[in-house]
Amino acid sequence: MSENREHFSSRLGFILAAAGSAVGIGNLVGFPVSATKNGGGAFLLVYALFVAFICLPVMMAEMAMGRKAQKDPLGSYKILGNNDTKWKLAGFLAVFTPFMIAVFYMVITVWIFGYLTQTALGNLDSLANPGHFGLFINSYTVFAYMAAVVLVVNLILLGGVKQGIEKAAKFLMPALFVMLIVLVGYVLTLDNAMAGVKYYIIPDFSKMNASVLNGALAQAFFSLSLGMGILMTYASYISKKDDIVGSAKMVAITDSLVAFVAGLMVLPAIFSFDPNTDPAALSDSSVSMIFVYLPKILLALQHDIGYFGASAVAFLFFLLVFFAAITSLVSIVEVPTATLSDRKGISRKKALGILTLATGVLTVLCTMSFGMVDSLTSFTGYGGQSKSFFDVVYDVFYDTILPFNGLMVCLFVMYRWKKANLSKELSIGSPNYAGSFMEKYVNFSLSTFIPIILATIFINTVATKFFGLKLFGF
Ligand code: PHE
Repeated sequence: MSENREHFSSRLGFILAAAGSAVGIGNLVGFPVSATKNGGGAFLLVYALFVAFICLPVMMAEMAMGRKAQKDPLGSYKILGNNDTKWKLAGFLAVFTPFMIAVFYMVITVWIFGYLTQTALGNLDSLANPGHFGLFINSYTVFAYMAAVVLVVNLILLGGVKQGIEKAAKFLMPALFVMLIVLVGYVLTLDNAMAGVKYYIIPDFSKMNASVLNGALAQAFFSLSLGMGILMTYASYISKKDDIVGSAKMVAITDSLVAFVAGLMVLPAIFSFDPNTDPAALSDSSVSMIFVYLPKILLALQHDIGYFGASAVAFLFFLLVFFAAITSLVSIVEVPTATLSDRKGISRKKALGILTLATGVLTVLCTMSFGMVDSLTSFTGYGGQSKSFFDVVYDVFYDTILPFNGLMVCLFVMYRWKKANLSKELSIGSPNYAGSFMEKYVNFSLSTFIPIILATIFINTVATKFFGLKLFGF
């Protein structure tokens, strides 16, 4: 065990960093919109149950692995599995997946930074033009924004765990909470705001079906940063005295609360813009909501508070999303950084240099796959559809491998590392855990129905996405 491994300075630092990872672009727009479309309060209820009964045990297992091994994910699988080569693939995927997700997340963060800069420059009116987004993502200025985002991420990560990740989270997360509250407070004063709140909160159980349930679980899984090796890596930076069970609960609650509160910002804004909005017609994609739909709404605020006021609100909104995205991006780049420096014994600086180059090349390829370069735009085809390079990265790693990684965590912890070791690790810092109902539930669920659910989602996704087959009726 490495004595000189850097650690978070406090439990709060760890919780804020992990919550910073969890609170991302998905929470702020994607969650509220899919909740509204898929049954409002009914979706919120199901989502909360998924977080508590399916995601929380997986989160605790990931954290326990990292803290016990005090290593990056690859090293954790190796040490806790006594060098069993069968688990090598799981360890490799726990590092390669975040590396690839970092690529697609970087692309979106760069666009957000672009929109943030443009609102600061007073160009909200052009952002609200229907054709603007298409032109923007195909203009060469995105590469300048990319350079700036890469610089920010590297500056934070170069600082290391305490001076980099923890310090950034301790500033960015409270700032994010304040901005969110200010925006919610403002938006709720708009005309027709309550119509949006109603759609968001009033339950409609008739919307529930297998595909909504699948979507809700996938959303919860992604939102809590599970299956990405992130929580394993961050937990390898906490001390043996810390309470993992309590910390995991705090992270899950913070993430879900931010997602819920974000709905009180987004839905009222949409309904005050157009009280007759049909929720079913709202776009499912966070990308089109953030970059196409919301700028229109933000610009329309000028009738109330003038162009400057509308630009200020838009600036605050994009800053909020940018802060959320940066803490997530930092956490995901940290995984391969930790692995490279742990495995190869090289400095963080060198590891970051290598990764910046590698992710940089792939991010540029993704960025050019929205029309700039034909062979990347129509990169391949499966499931009866033409797919760009970006689509492939998204489909393979986000949609398919994430639940698979979660499945590996459950199987590894329960059947290789073993229940008793998990319980022992979780009891350290949380003395009431041993013998509790929670312990029984975690051990039972992780060894039975959670892996079955994750395996079903994985098989179903592969069948529908890549082979165009409909299994299990969703
Ligand atoms: N929880 C993040 C989100 O909702 C997911 C994420 C974490 C993505 C880390 C990338 C990196 O956006």
